[in-house]
Amino acid sequence: MKLETLKTPGLVLDIAKVKRNAARMSRRIKQFGADLRPHIKTHKCIEVARIQTAGHSGAVTVSTLAEARACAANEFSKITYALPIEPGKFDEAIEISRDCELSLITDDVEVPVQLNDAARKANVHLNLFLKVDCGYHRCGVEPTNQEAIEIPRRISNASNLRFAGILTHAGHSYNCQTKSELLALARHERDVMADFGEVLRKEVGPVPIVSIGSTPTITCVDHLDGIDEVRPGNYIFFDAFQATLGSCSFDDCALTVLAAVVHRTRGEGDRRKVIIDAGAIALSKDRGPLGLNPDCGYGKVLDLEGQDLNLTVSEMSQEHGVVIVKDENTFNRLRVGSRVRVLANHSCLTAAQHSHYNVLEGENIVDHWRIHSGW
Ligand SMILES: Cc1ncc(COP(=O)(O)O)c(C=O)c1O
Repeated sequence: MKLETLKTPGLVLDIAKVKRNAARMSRRIKQFGADLRPHIKTHKCIEVARIQTAGHSGAVTVSTLAEARACAANEFSKITYALPIEPGKFDEAIEISRDCELSLITDDVEVPVQLNDAARKANVHLNLFLKVDCGYHRCGVEPTNQEAIEIPRRISNASNLRFAGILTHAGHSYNCQTKSELLALARHERDVMADFGEVLRKEVGPVPIVSIGSTPTITCVDHLDGIDEVRPGNYIFFDAFQATLGSCSFDDCALTVLAAVVHRTRGEGDRRKVIIDAGAIALSKDRGPLGLNPDCGYGKVLDLEGQDLNLTVSEMSQEHGVVIVKDENTFNRLRVGSRVRVLANHSCLTAAQHSHYNVLEGENIVDHWRIHSGW
């Protein structure tokens, strides 16, 4: 099947780019001597996870128990669920842990005791990481906080828990404005965790894994001494945000949304526009790298070959995307029924709204891969 006949809107996954992105990150992590445990939240797809983990231990990170279930059912044996665990999910996590080595995370001083009770009653052993805040201030305990020692101690003393180590995510890297700011932040993420690992070894005992990772920091960090594993996720597809940030080139972006022109408004200047059938649901309403490019809109519009048409999706409603087309020649190319590909701001959010990828090899759609969305 060709892009000209595929139903719109739909995801188009350029498999050559996926493989290239996977190989580049895999080489980089091996050179640094760390383990790769990619975050599969970006794609939620077994086939893509297999490409990412080839040549590594097969370990993955997930953001939902739905992703964990899918991975466990498809022979992924080491899975980290990287959202802090809460009692409402204990039973399901325990069930999943019967089919794989499941690691959970916490930054709460009560959870080790509660989780241990549940694990003991179910007769299972669970790995539990301490979630550390390295500056993002979303979740996690700051390394200087007393609880950063107390929580690992409680985990280590629990009969049915294993202290897995320490884990952080430098999500604030997405706010960096310059390369040097990003490099400083990447070094900070690494060094804070390596140093805190040393402190914990003295205070509590063995720290099996020091785990860090975000695509911006891992693509620019200069070494990974003191780090055992990294968990980048977005790098497998990249997106307009990452390309603007400098983590990749626009040509590295592997995921686009195929859309059809459904309406044209002839008019002068800003009033000349087309409407495409990809709106907020198909693209997501992620505002993108506004700090770096205030005109980024909700995505870049490309032609079917992936060439930039120098247009953006500037407004959206649920199923409508507005594209202002000032250039008359471009407007004449875009008839009702014409197709374009939109490179959205944030591939993780875009992918999560669809049921499957249409896998593009050369000019042909060669496969459909399921997306394990939901919770
Ligand atoms: C805990 C955790 N680890 C790793 C990642 C991967 O980060 P990125 O998508 O920037 O590669 C994320 C992303 O949100 C995350 O929340």
